[in-house]
Amino acid sequence: MTTRRSFLGLLSAPLAASIAFPRFGGPLLHGTRAMMPSDIGTLDDEAYWRALRTQFTIPADQAFFNTATLGSSPRVVQDAVIASIQHIGRDIADWDYKPDHENFFTGYYPEMPTRDKLATTVNCTGRDIALTQNATFGMNFLANGLDLKPGDEVVVTNQAHPGGRKGFDLRAKRDGIVVREVIVPEPPESPEQLIQLFLDATTPRTRVWAIPHISSSRAIRYPVFQLCALARERGIWSAVDGAQSLGHVAIDVQSMGCDAFYASPHKWMLAPVGTGLLYIRPERQKEVWATLASSAWDEQTDPMYRLMQYGTGNLSLLIGLGVAVEFHNQIGSARIQQRDFALADRLRSGLASVPGATIVSPTHPELTCATTVYGLQGKTGGQIQDYLWERGRVRVRSMGDTIGVRHACHIYNSPAEVDKALALLTELAAA
Ligand SMILES: Cc1ncc(COP(=O)(O)O)c(C=O)c1O
Repeated sequence: MTTRRSFLGLLSAPLAASIAFPRFGGPLLHGTRAMMPSDIGTLDDEAYWRALRTQFTIPADQAFFNTATLGSSPRVVQDAVIASIQHIGRDIADWDYKPDHENFFTGYYPEMPTRDKLATTVNCTGRDIALTQNATFGMNFLANGLDLKPGDEVVVTNQAHPGGRKGFDLRAKRDGIVVREVIVPEPPESPEQLIQLFLDATTPRTRVWAIPHISSSRAIRYPVFQLCALARERGIWSAVDGAQSLGHVAIDVQSMGCDAFYASPHKWMLAPVGTGLLYIRPERQKEVWATLASSAWDEQTDPMYRLMQYGTGNLSLLIGLGVAVEFHNQIGSARIQQRDFALADRLRSGLASVPGATIVSPTHPELTCATTVYGLQGKTGGQIQDYLWERGRVRVRSMGDTIGVRHACHIYNSPAEVDKALALLTELAAA
């Protein structure tokens, strides 16, 4: 079996050279050269983020605030994926199936280089991670893989995204487990209030707490450290849905203390669409059966590889994922979180001066994040969304007519873009 030395090592030498991050050799005027963050060098903060913005292909006159749905991959990630697809298409006949030849697909190999690389971002080892297609796969692999008996209980929130919950609903219908739904106040007042909801819904039959790290529709940042500790004391699985948190807030699965963490790097990690990860704490990995079975479905020496038995998959996406993780790591999770939160703070304080604006997401500092959900009196979510786009090429996402919009700030956004959105909202409020 071929071993992969690194995510670029599996490419032919000329291809690897062509996507191996050209060095930054000139002024960043037009941003036409694909660069890694380390090529930008040391610049003061705003200049650094401006330089980084040139590495995204979103047109300069467009402000994209919908990373909570899907991120925009930087140029180096796009280039890596495209180069790999072209390489496979061109050089496939050269594949002799001998052990020292690179592979051209995933699904039959442990993919350790990519798992190791992702592990650096969440602080575990690559062996504790299964590569999936997205968070939904991770949640389903856990929900379907646990030996849950009729009457066993799972606590979920009423605001859970379907991709963080429905696998448990399926088990309820099929196997008679009980899904207990806690109703989250809008907005919650404090971390303690959220913790109490989980405790109140817990009984001696509770086996799993399905915890959104950051919720999708209301952007609530849950007190995951405390929740995981309380679950651990009770022997309950803490299953953290990290679809909205990976790449957004700094993640350390070991200090968080979760039993499982599933995520979609194609959102805030800016990886190619259709990439995912499932982490399970080493001590609990063997409690989870494989849901999709192929050759290594029962490979006990690499328990998380058992959960990657999905048949032929797209290697080019994994290569792009590796580059995206490297791009993220070179900036640094803490720096990204700080930047994103600062932009969101600017938005939230600006909203206080927009007539008729109401923040729907929490304002308690421990519950906020880089995403804000807000409404405007007398306007539907659709009206706000469309006004911002049509008048200013500012992309936020409607959360439905009665709620308002979701506005996610990430590293390609600037304070000027936040200010532009606020000016448009003020204009719309007066219209
Ligand atoms: C909190 C949360 N969980 C799960 C998902 C599902 O993500 P995916 O479709 O990438 O599996 C989403 C998607 O928006 C989400 O916001």
